[in-house]
Amino acid sequence: MDKIIVEGGRTLSGVIAISGAKNAALPILISSLLTDGLNTYNNVPDLKDIHSTCVLLQNQGAHVEMNGDCVTIDAGDLHNPEAPYDLVRKMRASILVLGPLVARLKKARVSLPGGCAIGARPINLHLKGLASLGAKIELQHGYVEAKADRLTGADIFFDTVTVTGTENLMMAAALADGVTVLRNAAREPEVVALADVLNQMGADIQGAGTSVITITGVSSLHPVSVSIIPDRIEAGTFMVAAALTHGNITLTHCEPGHMQALIEKLRLAGAVIKISDKSVQVIGPERIASVDIKTLPYPGFPTDMQAQFMVLMSVASGLSIISETIFENRFIHVSELQRMGADITISGNAAVIKGMPYLSGAPVMASDLRASASLILAGLVAQGQTEVHRVYHLDRGYEAMEKKFEKLGASVLRVKD
Ligand code: EPZ
Repeated sequence: MDKIIVEGGRTLSGVIAISGAKNAALPILISSLLTDGLNTYNNVPDLKDIHSTCVLLQNQGAHVEMNGDCVTIDAGDLHNPEAPYDLVRKMRASILVLGPLVARLKKARVSLPGGCAIGARPINLHLKGLASLGAKIELQHGYVEAKADRLTGADIFFDTVTVTGTENLMMAAALADGVTVLRNAAREPEVVALADVLNQMGADIQGAGTSVITITGVSSLHPVSVSIIPDRIEAGTFMVAAALTHGNITLTHCEPGHMQALIEKLRLAGAVIKISDKSVQVIGPERIASVDIKTLPYPGFPTDMQAQFMVLMSVASGLSIISETIFENRFIHVSELQRMGADITISGNAAVIKGMPYLSGAPVMASDLRASASLILAGLVAQGQTEVHRVYHLDRGYEAMEKKFEKLGASVLRVKD
């Protein structure tokens, strides 16, 4: 296992290009299962989760090739309806094969993904929706078994906004008979990106990006050649790094329109943010102002930016309150930040942060993807050296993060642990 050593106190400046979005690439690569030809995907980030997805798709019978940021997938020989535990446990988003497998093979046996560090992560809404489309669902020996000779359109209401639930059912409904309406659907840019790709494949999906998505089933879908949208969470992480270090960073190949909630909060914290078509420049303030945030489904403040923003608040002047409304256990990074001198008190789903003049470098342990990123950010502003252990969490969702930080002038070194 590797660890990352960060020397604090550097001011970051320079230009970096943002990679393709992990959370758009995963469902889009998996949507290849709905076609029987060669699909080409560009601007795919080089991440562990992408590799896991490619292994999973090969397990189902697809032919997958990765060449730099280009991935080609031909699911013409798709034949295996089973996604085994040892693959699904590596990446929960594997549950996204459920809808496409039932739509294409009329059956699926997918391991229940189980929970993770940030929460129980149930999939009841995925299963309820699939049953509404006519699938027979059984839970046996830790697996979901779904069967349907033909999926038929239905009117489905999500009682909780679910990103992958919306994506799973959008893919299943694309090949169903008749019209499906998804109500209280997720509005994330990654959902819109998937709908755009499905429509390019011949689907008929209207309303993606709003809370009501209408899918009119078609008989088949054809392969496509598409590019993955930029990763708004990677971009947000580097924007916080600029604000933290009184830096001056320009991010290219990004989509400012996907980051309005974060931009608003960073401006309130005192950052100067200049936006152009596909780039954002962030100039960090001398003095960081305290700002309250509440995580919400898109377009609200993203839960995937909560840990990173908490680091900014831990060295702001004054008190701030961060409410986490999406996941029940997404404050694991707090105890590690406290070991670095952060003054944070948790009460239920709220954390009260009293800004400190500085943090102090320490050995810390990553626990989940975004918590790992927050610990690296904390190391950037801490006095002395911070060692972040278990950085395999980081590799799941950030492409060569330490190299990008080094390019901006940070001292971020990956070594064998
Ligand atoms: C997606 O996870 C993202 N992952 C997560 O990013 C992100 O944090 C999350 O959406 C919220 O934005 C991918 O897109 C691969 P949800 P997902 O279903 O779809 C409850 C990262 O760091 N729920 O929107 O699994 C659930 O418990 C990851 O990149 C049910 O109750 O999240 C949670 O409280 C972390 N029943 C809430 O909904 C269900 O059937 C939102 O979860 C499904 C979800």
